[in-house]
Amino acid sequence: MKGIILAGGTGSRLHPLSLAISKQLMPVYDKPMIYYPLATLMSAGIREILIITTPQDHQLFRNLLGDGTQLGCRFDYATQEAPRGIADAFRIGRDFIGGDKVALILGDNIFYGSGLSELLKANTDPDGAIIYGYHVTNPSRYGVVNLAADGRVESIEEKPANPKSNYAIPGIYFYDNDVVSYAADLAPSRRGELEITDINKAYLQDGKLRVSILDRGTAWLDTGTFESLMQASQFVQVIEQRQGLKIGSIEETAYKMGFIGAEQLRSLAEPLRKSGYGEYLLQLIPDA
Ligand code: G1P
Repeated sequence: MKGIILAGGTGSRLHPLSLAISKQLMPVYDKPMIYYPLATLMSAGIREILIITTPQDHQLFRNLLGDGTQLGCRFDYATQEAPRGIADAFRIGRDFIGGDKVALILGDNIFYGSGLSELLKANTDPDGAIIYGYHVTNPSRYGVVNLAADGRVESIEEKPANPKSNYAIPGIYFYDNDVVSYAADLAPSRRGELEITDINKAYLQDGKLRVSILDRGTAWLDTGTFESLMQASQFVQVIEQRQGLKIGSIEETAYKMGFIGAEQLRSLAEPLRKSGYGEYLLQLIPDA
């Protein structure tokens, strides 16, 4: 399975913070935001990843992440000229996806929890689509899924004024290759965007949509506003300081997943020692 990170958008809810720099490059405590969704994909075993950015920030992402070989991965880059919606990722990524299945994660979504990578790993060969549901207080801000008692999907709605459930649909989605043709046929919504919710509805109509509920022990954090960006940083800081373990470290993930060995981890860590981040990576190596 391949992966796509969508890191486009204007980030207008973070202006002036995001006027001159992409939101997904901003710090979430001790790492750039995009590290978190990247580590999430990598922890599911996904190594071929397309990073879609705005044209103006494209080079900055490349400076940060390179071609991925340093992490035992392959990163490709593409740009989204205008914020045409999430499903546009499958049009932009058409050649990259080729005949493969593909996972999409939004560059500003942070996931953390025990058992999460096993759950995601188990979903990397979908027949149809697999999306997630997550209990939130304010579902109207999101795509919302309503499940019947027997687990059947009754409805999916994008930002409904009167949500039928508290289950928001987080920004991580797993699809078979049909997603490419669904996206090609999609018409823009009233707000002028190619909606991911419309893709999911198409799968639902074909009886090929599965929803997996993320349990309450999982954290799904949004970083789209001043408050939520600050809260995400605080969350990461609290957990990392308490446990002495990092959330969203792409270098650690590459090492733990066996994408790179100890020597390569050491060379990634050396230039990062002064901040303490490199020291953290070094102590992952036995007898370091
Ligand atoms: C998008 C999707 C929405 C999803 C959300 C997750 O909304 O349209 O279905 O629940 O991402 O972050 P946005 O916040 O980009 O408008």
